[in-house]
Amino acid sequence: MRILVTRRWPADVERALQSRFEVVLNGTDKPLNGVELAQAMGEFDVLCPTVSDRIDAAAIGGGGRVRLIANYGVGFDHIDLAAAKAKGIAVTNTPGVLTDATADIAMTLLLMAARRAGEGERELRDGRWSGWRPTHLIGSALKGKVLGLVGMGRIAIATGRRARHGFGMRIAYYGRHACEPAVAAELEAEFFPELHGLLGASDFVSLHVPGGAETANLIDAAAIAAMKPGSYLINTARGGVLDHEALADALDRGHLAGAGLDVFPQEPEVPDALLGLENAVLLPHLGSATAETRTAMGMKALANIEAFAKGEPLPDRIA
Ligand code: DGY
Repeated sequence: MRILVTRRWPADVERALQSRFEVVLNGTDKPLNGVELAQAMGEFDVLCPTVSDRIDAAAIGGGGRVRLIANYGVGFDHIDLAAAKAKGIAVTNTPGVLTDATADIAMTLLLMAARRAGEGERELRDGRWSGWRPTHLIGSALKGKVLGLVGMGRIAIATGRRARHGFGMRIAYYGRHACEPAVAAELEAEFFPELHGLLGASDFVSLHVPGGAETANLIDAAAIAAMKPGSYLINTARGGVLDHEALADALDRGHLAGAGLDVFPQEPEVPDALLGLENAVLLPHLGSATAETRTAMGMKALANIEAFAKGEPLPDRIA
């Protein structure tokens, strides 16, 4: 069985893969282009892509050999699942193991935006800090403020726990259904069946919906207008769920006090309109970037490949 890994993985995971299978690693860590991905589909039995690869219908249609796409990552909006299914290709992801790391980044962004940490650090490093004064870089407290979670999956719940138990925030959420009663009780979380209702009631909004066609531009200009004046928006989900021009405009006009973003629609491009805004905290997709999490993601992908090789049910099959 021949396996292609499209980007560098943590060294211990690469070693574990190599000890069990015939693996081609990407020593340069340079992303493959569409032609190379399509070619790989014809030359390998298992493709191990990640969020920076576009596994679209053209790539999938390019070759007839791959039988498993073992994605390194939980999000799979970069993979055309329908095209994979039509070709009889199984697809797996790595859920669960990046929940805490991503929730930590959501809180990092929330704190940085609320306390103007990026702005302050830039000022200090630029030599513009003129010393302590009562009115300098005043931010917002978190205690007692409402954190509105858009989507109530694993990462949203983990973020809610940190906000509720660690920072004394009040939790509200929007989702298709009310969450499990035990979670709602633990977080004393208020359910909003309507998105704009949640946005209007929240001091901080954190996005936790999957990417893809169903959620594209979910937070559009109208949604941003529905947010409380002076509130904050945090996105660790996918760039495509948010209208970045509308966000930049709202930050510039002061309708929103701040935003914290870890993901963008066309990574690694970052919308120009955001780069010049002091009240936007911008991170380069660091949600899962801890040594522990990145190793665990790789080991999950490996477990799926091993199950596939043995003809067993795939633990994290999504298609
Ligand atoms: C994922 O796994 O989908 C993340 O975005 C990578 O951190």
